[in-house]
Amino acid sequence: MNKNKILVIGSGGREHALAWRLSLSTTVEHVYVAPGNPGTHEELNVSNVNIAADNYQDLIVFCKEKAIDLVVVGPEQPLCDGIVDLMSDAGINCFGPSAAAAQLEGSKTYSKQFLEKYNIPTAEYSSFTQVQPALDYLVKQRYPIVIKADGLAAGKGVVIAENEQQAHSAITDMLKGNAFGEAGHKIIIEEFLQGEEASFIIIADGQDFLAMATSQDHKARDNGDKGPNTGGMGAYSPAPVVSKSVYNKTIETIVKPSIKGMQSEGAPFVGFLYAGLMIDQSGNPKVLEFNVRFGDPETQPIMMRLQSNLDELCLSAINGTINQQKIKWDKKACLGIVLAEKGYPEHYQKGSKIMGLSNIKNDPNTKVFHAGTDIRSGQLITNGGRVLCVCALDNTLENAQIKAYETLKNISWDSLYYRTDIGFKAI
Ligand code: AMP
Ligand code: GLY
Repeated sequence: MNKNKILVIGSGGREHALAWRLSLSTTVEHVYVAPGNPGTHEELNVSNVNIAADNYQDLIVFCKEKAIDLVVVGPEQPLCDGIVDLMSDAGINCFGPSAAAAQLEGSKTYSKQFLEKYNIPTAEYSSFTQVQPALDYLVKQRYPIVIKADGLAAGKGVVIAENEQQAHSAITDMLKGNAFGEAGHKIIIEEFLQGEEASFIIIADGQDFLAMATSQDHKARDNGDKGPNTGGMGAYSPAPVVSKSVYNKTIETIVKPSIKGMQSEGAPFVGFLYAGLMIDQSGNPKVLEFNVRFGDPETQPIMMRLQSNLDELCLSAINGTINQQKIKWDKKACLGIVLAEKGYPEHYQKGSKIMGLSNIKNDPNTKVFHAGTDIRSGQLITNGGRVLCVCALDNTLENAQIKAYETLKNISWDSLYYRTDIGFKAI
């Protein structure tokens, strides 16, 4: 049997985890990552390719030259730009949603209208492009209230305003100022939902789907879910908050109608669909947001638990045969802690020397994924807000937490910052 040659697009922790898992697949010959990072560079059977994630023409040329069998796209930007459409037109198997389907993440207004149209549970909202009508709307609202930039803002375009004054400045910053650039020139104002969050990720072929293992992320920067929202400071899988009953409700009231709805819209959803859920006290899930790709850092613990061949799952989703597949998971729990630069997501330095990674012993149950790292004069340095993700698998979430925190003690740099309570809600 011919084995698959894979190209992963992106350079973060999610892409390191996807490339690593793909490289272990029994049906994979080799994994390329464009552009990748020092972590993917070190993996056996994985090579970095020096092409930017948004250089679509060069990526297509590369795929043809190497006869790539499958492209897996990590981040949302290329998907929203239409990389899947471009590659499919060039005859390349590129896994992910079309630009039309990627609007579920690319525009919050699109996704809210979609949720409303198909009666999928979500928070009440209104959308605005002008400051005054948005301020007028505030008068009758209760607090806290949520203000969101319409477009892509790397998970940071959301402000939870505790009072009218905070709401006022968030609205003017986004609509008048340039807090989120073009992405913030349209906003939505949304009811604040209470409950516990979970990440519900499926792999869809346009018509059918399989659910990934459940997971939970920690979006706030500081312990106790305080501080500004980030891309995510840690994650674990499974997420106990997703009980059997919550799981079934999510499938019936959210996942099935979303897949059907996108078919009706003429934009069938192929790819990883990530519903960010808020689950209330009675166990009813509502959609906070859709992402049209895998979560970062949820990917890292989920890939640690995946035992099926990821390339086969993606190829069958492209071919519309996901219902013929099964996904096998390691029964163990996995917990991942993000090591960040102090000051992330606002102002942080880069270029600190990362010490101690080589002290971590090679154990199949612990793994350090790279995100914002680089090599300078042979030395590993920090090169982004989220730098590494330290993951550990163990029989319980509690033990996985202990093992992950033990492991990260080996690593240090000048301005290292991480939460010390990842997993606290589940343990
Ligand atoms: P989003 O990017 O839309 O998922 O928002 C980022 C984070 O903001 C979510 O993970 C929640 O923690 C919080 N958030 C967003 N929308 C709401 C809401 N309607 N009610 C409460 N929290 C929210
Ligand atoms: N961890 C949240 C996200 O990937 O958007």
